[in-house]
Amino acid sequence: MEKRKIKITGTGHYVPDKILTNQDLEKMVDTSDEWIVTRTGIKERHIASAEQATSDLAAEAARQALQDAGLKAEDLDLILVATSTPDTIFPSTACRLQHHLQADHVPAFDLSAGCTGFLYGMIVAEGLIFGGTARRILLVGAELLTKITNWEDRSTCVLFGDGAGAVILEESKDDSGMLSSYWKADGSLGELLILPGGGTKIPASHDSVEKRLHFLHMKGNEVFKYAVKRMGEAAVEALKRAGLKETDVDFLIPHQANIRIIDATGQRLKLPPEKVYVNIHRYGNISVASIPVAIHELKEAGKLKKGDILVLDAFGAGFTWAAVVYRW
Ligand code: ACO
Repeated sequence: MEKRKIKITGTGHYVPDKILTNQDLEKMVDTSDEWIVTRTGIKERHIASAEQATSDLAAEAARQALQDAGLKAEDLDLILVATSTPDTIFPSTACRLQHHLQADHVPAFDLSAGCTGFLYGMIVAEGLIFGGTARRILLVGAELLTKITNWEDRSTCVLFGDGAGAVILEESKDDSGMLSSYWKADGSLGELLILPGGGTKIPASHDSVEKRLHFLHMKGNEVFKYAVKRMGEAAVEALKRAGLKETDVDFLIPHQANIRIIDATGQRLKLPPEKVYVNIHRYGNISVASIPVAIHELKEAGKLKKGDILVLDAFGAGFTWAAVVYRW
């Protein structure tokens, strides 16, 4: 008998209306469309309004996913929000989302695993569903990175965008669903990608704000090398755990941080470009939202056929990295 599996029974996504192009950025910092496109693959990104917080983005995506699954908010057993840019340190963005959805008394908490948070969330949800704790879980990856971006730092401000993707997870009644997973972390490298200020290590002060410590800091070229290595490793190991080969893969859905990282991961699995999903040119790096947004887009475009084998693969702050093999 096949192992029990969890399955995505609804999807949703949201990106803010406002678009910031590379040409707009040329007017803000010393950069060029040519540099950004060649080094990252990004052409434009969506930017939240001053009034929007992460839970607002999450709520739009979550409502779509609930509708898609034919569920009401009160049918949920858990609301899980993966984010590195919460509305506030506390209460959690998940509790704020619960209030937005009027999902009265449904338990809710945030999960922080950088860009890998959505895949960590799937693995946690699988454990909770098979442990009997929850039957229907709303998992949202929501990120509002442009509010922790230093718009004077050209090495980071060209990279990020805002967005949210949501899924409903339940036990599968057929042969589709999550086949295997692989997750790892290495806290010794955390300083390479960090928001240093505003927590308990460096509490917010005039000095921390003056030193720009409440913005994202990244040693991009160091992070790049680890991302390439670890995303390759995660995909290969997760496939091995599912008893599948590279040739069985129909779609690689990688975290969208840089087109060169995406291409390198596709090459590691020896996949032709048409099997590697790319939307970084339209959104930039939307961190934890990139994989659920990609799944929603592929599904809505009718590109996913029953039985297709997907490899979801991510790397992010922590460092954290993970992959999930999923049969559609
Ligand atoms: N425009 C023009 N020139 C620039 C820009 C810019 N926007 N940014 C940097 N440069 C310059 C640098 O100053 C440097 O110039 P120098 O050679 O004169 O010193 C040169 O370009 C090369 O800089 P690098 O940082 O070495 O450029 P690299 O090719 O590594 O690309 C990038 C930088 C895009 C950030 C890349 O390293 C990257 O994508 N890293 C990984 C990011 C990632 O995966 N993050 C993980 C997830 S994110 C999350 O968890 C929130």
